[in-house]
Amino acid sequence: MQVSIFGAGRRWWSDVASRHGHLAAARQFLAALWEFARDSTPERRRQRYGDADYDWNHRVNTTSGAVGWRERLVGQFHSSYQPTEPAVFHEMLEGLQQQTRIDYRDFLFVDLGSGKGRTLLMASDYPFRRIVGIELLPSLHQIALENISKYQSESQKCHVLQSICDDATNFRFPAQPTVVYLFHPLPDAGLRRLIVNLTESLRHNPRPVYVLYHNPLLENVVLESPVLRKIAGAEQYSAYASQPT
Ligand SMILES: C[S@@+](CC[C@H](N)C(=O)[O-])C[C@H]1O[C@@H](n2cnc3c(N)ncnc32)[C@H](O)[C@@H]1O
Repeated sequence: MQVSIFGAGRRWWSDVASRHGHLAAARQFLAALWEFARDSTPERRRQRYGDADYDWNHRVNTTSGAVGWRERLVGQFHSSYQPTEPAVFHEMLEGLQQQTRIDYRDFLFVDLGSGKGRTLLMASDYPFRRIVGIELLPSLHQIALENISKYQSESQKCHVLQSICDDATNFRFPAQPTVVYLFHPLPDAGLRRLIVNLTESLRHNPRPVYVLYHNPLLENVVLESPVLRKIAGAEQYSAYASQPT
C-alpha cells in the first residue's frame, strides 16, 4: 500500500474542513508546511538523531533521524514519526501492571501507529501472548520488520512480534484481552474512527482492554467512548480501562 503525499493531504483537508471550515483548514495547512520546513533544518535533523542510545544498545534503527522527506511530509498530515523513550515506556507498562495486577501473559500488545517498531521491541521484554504493530507508511513498516528480525535481548520474554502495514483506522481489534498503545498516531478525525471501532469491538466482545495513551493531546476523543474510563494520568501519558456499558 503506497501512501501518496497528495492523497494524504486531500484526506486531511476534507477531515479538517468538514469539522472546522475551509479557512481554518487553510491556516492549519500553512502551519503544517511551515513546521515541515522548520523540521528540515540541519539543527532539527541533528536533534532527531539525539536519542540514538536505544539503537546503539540493541543494534537496531528506530530513531527519527533517518526518516526521509516524503515520510516527514506525509507525517504532517497524519502524525510524524517519533519513537517512544524507553524510560517512559517502561514506566507506563510497569505502572499499569502494578495498578491493575493483570498478568501480561493473558494479553496482546497492539501499537497503532508503530513506526519503526521500537515499542514492539520494548514490549517484548514483557511476557505478552503476542505483539502487533500497525504502521501506515510502508518504508517505516519495512524498517520495523528488519528491526524485529535483528533484535536480540537477554530480557526478551515474548518472541511473537508482527508489524503490519495498514491504516490503523481499519484495524479490527482481536477479541482477546489487549493492551492498546497510542503515541499520538492520528489527528482528530482518525482517532475518532479508531476509538469508535474499539468501542464497537468492546460492545460485541466485552473483555479486559487497557489503552495507554502517550502524549494524550486528544484525550477528549478517548473519553467520549462510553466503554472506556480513565484509570491513571501522569504528565506524559494517560491510561484507560474497558468497562461494561
Ligand atoms: C509519534 S509516532 C509513534 C511511533 C511508535 N508508536 C512509538 O511510540 O515509538 C506515530 C506513528 O503513527 C503513524 N501513523 C500515522 N497515521 C497512521 C495511520 N492512519 N495508521 C497507522 N499508522 C499511522 C506514523 O507514520 C508514525 O509512525
